[in-house]
Amino acid sequence: MKQKLEEIRASALDTIHAAADLAELEQLRVKFLGRKGVLTDVLRGLAQCPPEDRPAVGKVANEVKQAVADALDARKEAIAASQEAASAAAERLDLSLPGRRPLRGHKHPVMRVAEEISDIFVQLGFQIAAGPDVETEYYNFDSLNTPANHPARDLHDTFFVKPGVVLRTHTSPVQMRVMERTQPPVAVIVPGRVYRVDQDASHSPMFYQIEGLLVDKGISFADLKGLLRLFIQRYFGPTTKTRFRPHYFPFTEPSAEVDISCTVCSGKGCRVCKHSGWLEILGCGMVHPEVFRYANYDSETYTGLAFGLGVERIAMLTHAISSIHYLYENDLRFLEQF
Ligand code: DAH
Repeated sequence: MKQKLEEIRASALDTIHAAADLAELEQLRVKFLGRKGVLTDVLRGLAQCPPEDRPAVGKVANEVKQAVADALDARKEAIAASQEAASAAAERLDLSLPGRRPLRGHKHPVMRVAEEISDIFVQLGFQIAAGPDVETEYYNFDSLNTPANHPARDLHDTFFVKPGVVLRTHTSPVQMRVMERTQPPVAVIVPGRVYRVDQDASHSPMFYQIEGLLVDKGISFADLKGLLRLFIQRYFGPTTKTRFRPHYFPFTEPSAEVDISCTVCSGKGCRVCKHSGWLEILGCGMVHPEVFRYANYDSETYTGLAFGLGVERIAMLTHAISSIHYLYENDLRFLEQF
Protein backbone atom coordinates (compact mmCIF):
# COMPACT_ATOMS: atom_id res chain seq x y z
CA MET A 1 0.00 0.00 0.00
CA LYS A 2 2.85 2.27 0.79
CA GLN A 3 4.21 1.61 -2.64
CA LYS A 4 0.89 2.46 -4.18
CA LEU A 5 0.85 5.76 -2.25
CA GLU A 6 4.34 6.58 -3.50
CA GLU A 7 3.22 5.91 -7.07
CA ILE A 8 0.26 8.22 -6.57
CA ARG A 9 2.55 10.90 -5.17
CA ALA A 10 4.91 10.64 -8.12
CA SER A 11 2.23 10.73 -10.80
CA ALA A 12 0.28 13.50 -9.02
CA LEU A 13 3.33 15.74 -8.69
CA ASP A 14 4.26 15.17 -12.35
CA THR A 15 0.84 15.93 -13.76
CA ILE A 16 0.29 18.89 -11.44
CA HIS A 17 3.60 20.36 -12.46
CA ALA A 18 2.62 20.00 -16.11
CA ALA A 19 -0.85 21.54 -15.67
CA ALA A 20 -1.25 24.41 -18.09
CA ASP A 21 -4.06 26.42 -16.52
CA LEU A 22 -6.32 26.77 -13.49
CA ALA A 23 -9.11 24.67 -14.97
CA GLU A 24 -6.80 21.73 -15.52
CA LEU A 25 -5.42 22.19 -12.01
CA GLU A 26 -8.94 22.03 -10.58
CA GLN A 27 -9.55 18.78 -12.44
CA LEU A 28 -6.38 17.36 -10.93
CA ARG A 29 -7.42 18.47 -7.45
CA VAL A 30 -10.71 16.59 -7.84
CA LYS A 31 -8.90 13.60 -9.29
CA PHE A 32 -6.39 13.28 -6.42
CA LEU A 33 -7.96 14.88 -3.38
CA GLY A 34 -11.68 14.91 -4.13
CA ARG A 35 -14.23 12.85 -2.25
CA LYS A 36 -14.15 10.23 -4.99
CA GLY A 37 -10.49 10.89 -5.71
CA VAL A 38 -7.57 8.51 -5.91
CA LEU A 39 -6.20 9.22 -2.42
CA THR A 40 -9.57 8.95 -0.68
CA ASP A 41 -9.97 5.64 -2.42
CA VAL A 42 -6.67 4.37 -1.04
CA LEU A 43 -7.39 5.67 2.46
CA ARG A 44 -10.68 3.82 2.45
CA GLY A 45 -8.63 0.64 1.86
CA LEU A 46 -6.78 1.33 5.10
CA ALA A 47 -9.38 -0.75 6.90
CA GLN A 48 -8.04 -3.85 5.14
CA CYS A 49 -4.51 -3.22 6.43
CA PRO A 50 -3.21 -5.24 9.31
CA PRO A 51 -3.79 -3.01 12.41
CA GLU A 52 -0.08 -2.78 13.27
CA ASP A 53 0.70 -1.34 9.81
CA ARG A 54 -2.04 1.25 9.87
CA PRO A 55 -0.24 4.10 11.70
CA ALA A 56 2.71 3.97 9.34
CA VAL A 57 0.57 3.74 6.19
CA GLY A 58 -1.71 6.45 7.55
CA LYS A 59 1.28 8.68 8.11
CA VAL A 60 2.52 8.19 4.55
CA ALA A 61 -1.00 8.76 3.22
CA ASN A 62 -1.20 12.10 5.06
CA GLU A 63 2.23 13.10 3.80
CA VAL A 64 1.22 12.31 0.22
CA LYS A 65 -2.01 14.21 0.67
CA GLN A 66 -0.11 17.21 2.02
CA ALA A 67 2.46 17.00 -0.75
CA VAL A 68 -0.25 16.93 -3.41
CA ALA A 69 -2.06 19.85 -1.78
CA ASP A 70 1.20 21.82 -1.60
CA ALA A 71 1.99 21.02 -5.22
CA LEU A 72 -1.49 22.20 -6.26
CA ASP A 73 -1.01 25.48 -4.36
CA ALA A 74 2.43 26.08 -5.78
CA ARG A 75 1.31 25.36 -9.32
CA LYS A 76 -1.71 27.61 -8.88
CA GLU A 77 0.49 30.48 -7.78
CA ALA A 78 2.87 29.89 -10.67
CA ILE A 79 0.03 29.88 -13.21
CA ALA A 80 -1.48 33.05 -11.73
CA ALA A 81 1.90 34.79 -11.80
CA SER A 82 2.56 33.91 -15.42
CA GLN A 83 -0.96 35.02 -16.44
CA GLU A 84 -0.39 38.33 -14.74
CA ALA A 85 2.94 38.72 -16.46
CA ALA A 86 1.35 37.90 -19.81
CA SER A 87 -1.43 40.46 -19.42
CA ALA A 88 1.02 43.07 -18.18
CA ALA A 89 3.12 42.47 -21.27
CA ALA A 90 0.05 42.77 -23.49
CA GLU A 91 -0.94 46.08 -21.89
CA ARG A 92 2.52 47.53 -21.84
CA LEU A 93 2.72 51.22 -22.67
CA ASP A 94 5.59 52.28 -24.83
CA LEU A 95 6.14 55.79 -23.52
CA SER A 96 8.68 56.48 -26.22
CA LEU A 97 6.08 56.21 -29.01
CA PRO A 98 5.15 59.61 -30.54
CA GLY A 99 1.74 60.86 -29.39
CA ARG A 100 -1.25 61.09 -31.71
CA ARG A 101 -1.53 64.66 -32.86
CA PRO A 102 -4.98 66.24 -32.65
CA LEU A 103 -6.38 67.16 -36.07
CA ARG A 104 -5.56 70.83 -36.59
CA GLY A 105 -8.11 73.05 -38.28
CA HIS A 106 -7.23 76.33 -39.88
CA LYS A 107 -8.92 79.56 -40.78
CA HIS A 108 -11.36 79.62 -43.64
CA PRO A 109 -9.85 81.39 -46.70
CA VAL A 110 -12.51 84.13 -46.53
CA MET A 111 -11.69 84.81 -42.86
CA ARG A 112 -8.00 84.83 -43.62
CA VAL A 113 -8.32 87.34 -46.43
CA ALA A 114 -10.63 89.51 -44.29
CA GLU A 115 -8.11 89.50 -41.46
CA GLU A 116 -5.15 90.21 -43.73
CA ILE A 117 -6.95 93.18 -45.27
CA SER A 118 -8.17 94.50 -41.90
CA ASP A 119 -4.66 94.13 -40.45
CA ILE A 120 -3.21 96.44 -43.08
CA PHE A 121 -5.63 99.19 -42.01
CA VAL A 122 -5.21 98.45 -38.31
CA GLN A 123 -1.47 98.99 -38.78
CA LEU A 124 -2.32 102.41 -40.22
CA GLY A 125 -4.30 103.31 -37.10
CA PHE A 126 -7.83 102.27 -38.10
CA GLN A 127 -10.03 100.65 -35.46
CA ILE A 128 -12.29 97.66 -36.10
CA ALA A 129 -16.02 98.43 -35.76
CA ALA A 130 -19.13 96.28 -36.10
CA GLY A 131 -22.89 96.64 -36.49
CA PRO A 132 -25.94 94.35 -36.67
CA ASP A 133 -26.66 92.05 -39.62
CA VAL A 134 -30.40 92.70 -39.18
CA GLU A 135 -30.57 96.41 -39.89
CA THR A 136 -33.21 99.09 -40.21
CA GLU A 137 -33.95 100.60 -43.59
CA TYR A 138 -32.96 103.88 -42.02
CA TYR A 139 -29.35 102.84 -41.45
CA ASN A 140 -29.06 100.62 -44.52
CA PHE A 141 -30.57 103.18 -46.94
CA ASP A 142 -32.14 106.50 -45.79
CA SER A 143 -29.25 107.80 -43.69
CA LEU A 144 -26.90 106.88 -46.55
CA ASN A 145 -28.71 109.22 -48.88
CA THR A 146 -30.50 106.36 -50.60
CA PRO A 147 -34.15 107.48 -50.77
CA ALA A 148 -37.15 105.18 -50.90
CA ASN A 149 -37.43 105.16 -54.70
CA HIS A 150 -33.74 104.38 -55.30
CA PRO A 151 -33.02 101.28 -57.45
CA ALA A 152 -30.68 99.91 -54.73
CA ARG A 153 -33.78 99.44 -52.59
CA ASP A 154 -35.39 97.26 -55.21
CA LEU A 155 -37.22 94.32 -53.66
CA HIS A 156 -35.19 92.02 -55.87
CA ASP A 157 -31.94 92.93 -54.16
CA THR A 158 -32.91 93.21 -50.55
CA PHE A 159 -34.03 90.59 -48.06
CA PHE A 160 -36.78 92.12 -45.96
CA VAL A 161 -37.24 90.86 -42.40
CA LYS A 162 -40.38 92.98 -41.88
CA PRO A 163 -41.42 96.44 -43.04
CA GLY A 164 -38.60 98.83 -42.21
CA VAL A 165 -36.15 96.04 -41.30
CA VAL A 166 -33.75 94.33 -43.70
CA LEU A 167 -30.72 92.06 -43.76
CA ARG A 168 -28.08 94.68 -44.41
CA THR A 169 -27.14 94.77 -48.08
CA HIS A 170 -23.73 96.33 -47.36
CA THR A 171 -21.50 97.26 -44.42
CA SER A 172 -21.99 101.00 -45.09
CA PRO A 173 -24.74 101.38 -42.40
CA VAL A 174 -22.00 100.86 -39.81
CA GLN A 175 -20.50 104.18 -41.03
CA MET A 176 -23.58 105.93 -39.68
CA ARG A 177 -23.71 103.91 -36.46
CA VAL A 178 -20.06 104.78 -35.74
CA MET A 179 -20.48 108.48 -36.57
CA GLU A 180 -23.56 108.71 -34.31
CA ARG A 181 -21.55 107.60 -31.30
CA THR A 182 -18.17 109.21 -32.11
CA GLN A 183 -16.88 112.68 -32.78
CA PRO A 184 -14.22 113.13 -35.50
CA PRO A 185 -11.53 112.16 -36.11
CA VAL A 186 -12.93 108.74 -37.08
CA ALA A 187 -10.90 105.95 -38.65
CA VAL A 188 -12.69 102.61 -38.73
CA ILE A 189 -12.62 99.42 -40.71
CA VAL A 190 -15.74 97.23 -40.67
CA PRO A 191 -15.51 93.61 -41.75
CA GLY A 192 -18.88 91.87 -41.77
CA ARG A 193 -21.52 89.72 -43.43
CA VAL A 194 -23.94 91.25 -45.92
CA TYR A 195 -26.93 89.79 -47.77
CA ARG A 196 -28.45 90.18 -51.21
CA VAL A 197 -30.99 88.29 -53.30
CA ASP A 198 -28.42 87.18 -55.82
CA GLN A 199 -26.80 83.90 -56.79
CA ASP A 200 -24.47 82.87 -59.61
CA ALA A 201 -20.81 81.91 -60.07
CA SER A 202 -19.64 85.18 -58.56
CA HIS A 203 -22.55 86.00 -56.19
CA SER A 204 -23.76 84.32 -53.04
CA PRO A 205 -26.83 85.50 -51.05
CA MET A 206 -24.50 85.97 -48.06
CA PHE A 207 -21.03 87.38 -48.52
CA TYR A 208 -18.44 89.49 -46.73
CA GLN A 209 -17.56 93.11 -47.17
CA ILE A 210 -15.01 95.37 -45.57
CA GLU A 211 -16.01 98.98 -45.13
CA GLY A 212 -13.58 101.79 -44.44
CA LEU A 213 -14.31 105.28 -43.14
CA LEU A 214 -11.92 108.12 -42.38
CA VAL A 215 -13.28 111.50 -41.27
CA ASP A 216 -11.24 114.48 -40.14
CA LYS A 217 -10.50 118.05 -41.02
CA GLY A 218 -8.89 118.35 -44.43
CA ILE A 219 -9.35 114.81 -45.75
CA SER A 220 -9.14 115.03 -49.54
CA PHE A 221 -9.55 112.85 -52.60
CA ALA A 222 -5.76 112.68 -52.71
CA ASP A 223 -5.86 110.99 -49.28
CA LEU A 224 -8.39 108.51 -50.65
CA LYS A 225 -6.16 107.69 -53.61
CA GLY A 226 -3.03 107.49 -51.49
CA LEU A 227 -4.60 105.30 -48.82
CA LEU A 228 -6.10 102.83 -51.28
CA ARG A 229 -2.94 102.69 -53.36
CA LEU A 230 -0.92 101.93 -50.26
CA PHE A 231 -3.37 99.20 -49.22
CA ILE A 232 -3.38 97.67 -52.71
CA GLN A 233 0.39 97.59 -52.97
CA ARG A 234 0.73 96.04 -49.51
CA TYR A 235 -1.91 93.44 -50.20
CA PHE A 236 -1.35 92.58 -53.87
CA GLY A 237 2.34 93.43 -54.14
CA PRO A 238 4.41 96.60 -54.70
CA THR A 239 4.25 96.48 -58.52
CA THR A 240 0.43 96.39 -58.65
CA LYS A 241 -1.03 99.34 -60.55
CA THR A 242 -4.24 101.11 -59.54
CA ARG A 243 -6.82 102.86 -61.65
CA PHE A 244 -9.66 105.06 -60.39
CA ARG A 245 -12.78 105.20 -62.58
CA PRO A 246 -15.63 107.67 -61.95
CA HIS A 247 -18.69 105.94 -60.57
CA TYR A 248 -21.86 106.65 -58.66
CA PHE A 249 -22.79 105.77 -55.09
CA PRO A 250 -25.56 107.66 -53.28
CA PHE A 251 -23.46 108.11 -50.13
CA THR A 252 -20.28 109.50 -51.72
CA GLU A 253 -19.55 112.46 -53.96
CA PRO A 254 -17.44 112.16 -55.97
CA SER A 255 -17.47 108.37 -56.20
CA ALA A 256 -15.08 105.99 -57.91
CA GLU A 257 -14.45 102.37 -58.59
CA VAL A 258 -10.91 101.11 -58.24
CA ASP A 259 -9.27 98.62 -60.56
CA ILE A 260 -5.93 96.91 -60.08
CA SER A 261 -3.64 95.56 -62.76
CA CYS A 262 -4.59 91.91 -63.28
CA THR A 263 -2.99 89.70 -60.62
CA VAL A 264 -2.78 86.80 -63.08
CA CYS A 265 -1.29 88.40 -66.23
CA SER A 266 0.10 91.64 -64.70
CA GLY A 267 -2.00 93.65 -67.13
CA LYS A 268 -1.16 91.87 -70.39
CA GLY A 269 -4.70 90.52 -70.74
CA CYS A 270 -5.99 87.05 -69.86
CA ARG A 271 -9.15 85.09 -69.19
CA VAL A 272 -9.42 86.29 -65.55
CA CYS A 273 -9.37 90.00 -66.47
CA LYS A 274 -11.41 89.32 -69.62
CA HIS A 275 -8.43 90.57 -71.65
CA SER A 276 -8.74 94.08 -70.22
CA GLY A 277 -5.64 93.85 -68.03
CA TRP A 278 -7.67 95.28 -65.09
CA LEU A 279 -9.69 93.85 -62.22
CA GLU A 280 -12.30 95.87 -60.37
CA ILE A 281 -11.87 95.45 -56.64
CA LEU A 282 -13.67 98.16 -54.69
CA GLY A 283 -15.98 101.15 -54.56
CA CYS A 284 -15.07 104.38 -52.82
CA GLY A 285 -15.58 108.10 -52.64
CA MET A 286 -15.73 111.23 -50.50
CA VAL A 287 -18.48 111.09 -47.89
CA HIS A 288 -21.58 112.89 -49.17
CA PRO A 289 -22.49 116.06 -47.19
CA GLU A 290 -26.01 114.68 -46.86
CA VAL A 291 -24.59 111.66 -44.99
CA PHE A 292 -22.76 114.02 -42.64
CA ARG A 293 -26.02 115.88 -42.06
CA TYR A 294 -27.65 112.60 -40.90
CA ALA A 295 -24.63 112.01 -38.63
CA ASN A 296 -24.80 115.53 -37.20
CA TYR A 297 -21.31 116.27 -38.45
CA ASP A 298 -20.58 119.74 -39.78
CA SER A 299 -19.69 119.20 -43.43
CA GLU A 300 -18.09 122.65 -43.57
CA THR A 301 -15.54 121.55 -40.98
CA TYR A 302 -15.08 117.90 -41.78
CA THR A 303 -14.56 115.83 -44.88
CA GLY A 304 -14.23 112.10 -45.15
CA LEU A 305 -13.31 109.24 -47.39
CA ALA A 306 -15.06 105.89 -47.53
CA PHE A 307 -14.65 102.64 -49.37
CA GLY A 308 -16.15 99.19 -49.51
CA LEU A 309 -14.84 95.95 -50.94
CA GLY A 310 -16.05 92.37 -51.37
CA VAL A 311 -13.89 89.87 -49.49
CA GLU A 312 -14.81 86.77 -51.53
CA ARG A 313 -13.98 88.54 -54.75
CA ILE A 314 -10.49 89.33 -53.49
CA ALA A 315 -10.07 85.79 -52.14
CA MET A 316 -11.12 84.47 -55.56
CA LEU A 317 -8.67 86.75 -57.37
CA THR A 318 -5.72 85.97 -55.14
CA HIS A 319 -6.32 82.20 -55.09
CA ALA A 320 -7.68 81.76 -58.66
CA ILE A 321 -11.01 80.35 -57.45
CA SER A 322 -13.49 80.11 -60.31
CA SER A 323 -16.78 80.05 -58.38
CA ILE A 324 -17.75 81.74 -55.13
CA HIS A 325 -19.68 78.62 -54.15
CA TYR A 326 -16.48 76.65 -53.58
CA LEU A 327 -15.99 78.95 -50.60
CA TYR A 328 -19.27 77.93 -49.00
CA GLU A 329 -19.68 74.26 -49.83
CA ASN A 330 -17.37 73.27 -46.96
CA ASP A 331 -15.77 70.56 -49.06
CA LEU A 332 -12.57 69.68 -47.19
CA ARG A 333 -10.82 68.75 -50.45
CA PHE A 334 -11.16 72.42 -51.36
CA LEU A 335 -10.59 74.00 -47.93
CA GLU A 336 -7.50 71.90 -47.17
CA GLN A 337 -5.67 73.59 -50.04
CA PHE A 338 -5.39 76.79 -48.00
N1 DAH B 1 -21.65 99.92 -50.09
C1 DAH B 1 -21.19 99.76 -51.46
C2 DAH B 1 -21.70 98.44 -52.02
O1 DAH B 1 -22.05 97.59 -51.28
C3 DAH B 1 -19.69 99.76 -51.51
C4 DAH B 1 -19.15 101.10 -51.19
C5 DAH B 1 -18.91 102.01 -52.18
C6 DAH B 1 -18.88 101.45 -49.88
C7 DAH B 1 -18.43 103.25 -51.91
C8 DAH B 1 -18.38 102.73 -49.60
C9 DAH B 1 -18.17 103.61 -50.64
O2 DAH B 1 -18.11 103.09 -48.37
O3 DAH B 1 -17.68 104.82 -50.34
O4 DAH B 1 -21.73 98.27 -53.19
